Amino acid sequence: MKQPTRYLITGGAGFIGSHLAEALLEQGDDVTVIDDLSTGRMENIQHLLDHPNFHFVRASITDSAVLDRLASQVKTIVHLAAAVGVKLVVEHPVYTIETNVMGTEAVLKAGLRYNCKVLVASTSEVYGKGSKIPFSEEDDTLLGATSKSRWSYAASKMVDEFLSLAYQREHGLQVVVFRLFNTVGPRQRGRYGMVIPNFVRQAVQGDPITVYDDGLQSRCFCDVQDVIRAIIGLAENQDVTGQVFNIGSTTEITILDLARKVWHAANPPSRILDKEKPSKALATALPQPATEIERIIFVPYDQAYGEGFEDMRRRVPDISKIKQAIGWEPQISLDETLQHLVQSYRPE
Ligand SMILES: NC(=O)c1ccc[n+]([C@@H]2O[C@H](COP(=O)([O-])OP(=O)(O)OC[C@H]3O[C@@H](n4cnc5c(N)ncnc54)[C@H](O)[C@@H]3O)[C@@H](O)[C@H]2O)c1
Repeated sequence: MKQPTRYLITGGAGFIGSHLAEALLEQGDDVTVIDDLSTGRMENIQHLLDHPNFHFVRASITDSAVLDRLASQVKTIVHLAAAVGVKLVVEHPVYTIETNVMGTEAVLKAGLRYNCKVLVASTSEVYGKGSKIPFSEEDDTLLGATSKSRWSYAASKMVDEFLSLAYQREHGLQVVVFRLFNTVGPRQRGRYGMVIPNFVRQAVQGDPITVYDDGLQSRCFCDVQDVIRAIIGLAENQDVTGQVFNIGSTTEITILDLARKVWHAANPPSRILDKEKPSKALATALPQPATEIERIIFVPYDQAYGEGFEDMRRRVPDISKIKQAIGWEPQISLDETLQHLVQSYRPE
């Protein structure tokens, strides 16, 4: 039987962190969470507080005394704490850059001091406007101009990656970087700009679903339970240190088709309402007009995120590297995830 491991999860009261904490406790490991509750919530971990192997500390990762003490007690750190979400990033670029860069530096330093293995969460955003599909770990990256604050998130995560790999090369820290593509599941919040929680809320309430731009941009959505299996697989494998891995689904869907799927999952025939038509210009641009039964409205990016907002048309991961390293690939379909989200929907 596997010996229990002591984990520290930064950002463990957030969406992904709380699911990771649950899964680790379930397999008998010991989990400490540090979270400042900036975007995370106590209710995500409320059910874990009485678990004998779960410990929660409300503090920022930039509080070096607390972080140092917690790192001294664990073997592995999973670093998830970050400023996350397009809306938050666009509205608070200083906070985003400082949290992501200085926070990660603090975590790496603490990990090095106590000889921990450190897994660092990065993002598919680092591929930026790259057009070679699918995105593979050694591909070039192409970010937008520094005058566009939305790129500060990707740039800050790139600095995190450089710093992590530098700590490994120069100081021998055991570090693994994982780039998450769109991850989805219960407890994810829509208020910071995450697409599926917003679609589910709108569809369940019978409101029109708001699709940005023409909706023909596409993404791949991976269920959080699949993502957790990948993170634990990397944490438990001894041969992956010093490397970068994509984690994501390879099933691509346009945002318009996603809106339709969510609408139908939430509105079986008896609940169907009238449709609102897209603007004339957008309607002619669409290959298939929205059907009579869906309520979808189209909003230009500028209106949602301000003048000059840039987004990627496609974002598909190449996951052959992680598959080869630990045998991981996603198992849960988007339809299953959406059904689950619609059924378990609670207002934020
Ligand atoms: N969800 C996705 O689709 C996705 C995609 C790519 C990358 N990621 C990365 O995964 C990680 C987790 O994201 P998530 O979706 O769970 O977001 P989340 O906002 O739910 O989780 C982040 C957590 O970090 C905490 N936090 C923020 N700053 C902190 C600080 N200074 N000290 C302590 N805690 C702090 C927040 O309170 C929150 O609980 C992030 O690093 C994010 O960049 C997520």
